[in-house]
Amino acid sequence: MIPRVLSGIQPSGNLHIGNYLGALGNWVKIQHDYESIFCIVDLHAITVYQKPDELRTKIREIAGIFLAAGIDPKHSRIVVQSTVPAHAELAWLLTCVTPMGWLERMTQFKAKAAAQESIGDGLFQYPVLMAADILLYQANIVPVGEDQMQHIELARDIAQRFNSLYGETFVMPATRLPAVGARIMGLDDPTAKMSKSASGTGHAVALLDPPDRIRRTIMRATTDSGSGVDFETMGPGVANLLAIFQSFSGWSDDQMRTHFTGVRYGDLKKQVAEMTISQLEPMQQRYREITADPSHVDRVLHEGAQAVLPTANATVQLVKEHMGIYTRGR
Ligand code: AMP
Ligand code: TRP
Repeated sequence: MIPRVLSGIQPSGNLHIGNYLGALGNWVKIQHDYESIFCIVDLHAITVYQKPDELRTKIREIAGIFLAAGIDPKHSRIVVQSTVPAHAELAWLLTCVTPMGWLERMTQFKAKAAAQESIGDGLFQYPVLMAADILLYQANIVPVGEDQMQHIELARDIAQRFNSLYGETFVMPATRLPAVGARIMGLDDPTAKMSKSASGTGHAVALLDPPDRIRRTIMRATTDSGSGVDFETMGPGVANLLAIFQSFSGWSDDQMRTHFTGVRYGDLKKQVAEMTISQLEPMQQRYREITADPSHVDRVLHEGAQAVLPTANATVQLVKEHMGIYTRGR
């Protein structure tokens, strides 16, 4: 059997180069080696308040970006999570085998909870829903950025616990990180992860940002008190700029050292900006072409959901049977 890949991105805020280098760009590269499913996880997005009209728009925008980046809809399935009800159904079934203590340890929950005045229960259950996304399709590989590793570990723990309570049911998924770019940092603050929800200009380069804006954001990036690149002593800002360049270019460590040692920060930033623009511009052009016909994205999403429904429903059926939940004819 061909191994299966599954991953997801939340339709909250603007996709940025961290999402691309940590996840989406990697999916495009590996998609044809696997049976691939890529989800737009709208049920995850609403764990914090989203304006309904913006959410609706974002879901389509992200589907357009997936296609523009090179996800091949003839081969890979692009699925809006909420259009396959089995995601939510399995999440409940898994909630019942997940100890609260496991969820209390999640660092992303702790960070998000600390930033909110009042926390919805959905935010707490978030990793169980993510486990359901993965286990629903018996995915073997989950390509993500570094910040999701703990959630995938949890999905494995839940799968193991379920299997030991109710008998062999779930395949164990494995995390796949990109070699470079698994954790892109904020350009304004290289000690914090680049994130969709961070406010302010200068923090992130969004995938649909026009070239002059990309140039401006990167030229203003925080570096350190040095003036030229020194691979032994560089601070996190310079390391982050180099990671962005290396990840977009695919250069080896040796090539990076030879080319950038001693290069002044201003020049480094110029080269990072031009590399980023040269990678994003063709994608932006394709995005405009793809979204010129709004029904195209809807068609792809409909076909994606139809294609995965049988697998999703079969897993829920199996889980119910193993748990003793009522199923017709048994
Ligand atoms: P999210 O933005 O939380 O929906 O994340 C979608 C995907 O992008 C996940 O696989 C994340 O691990 C990845 N990702 C998000 N932010 C970054 C970042 N700053 N660097 C690398 N990968 C990231
Ligand atoms: N929680 C992930 C994130 O914010 C998104 C996600 C939801 C996901 N379901 C998933 C990633 C399943 C991988 C597999 O980045």
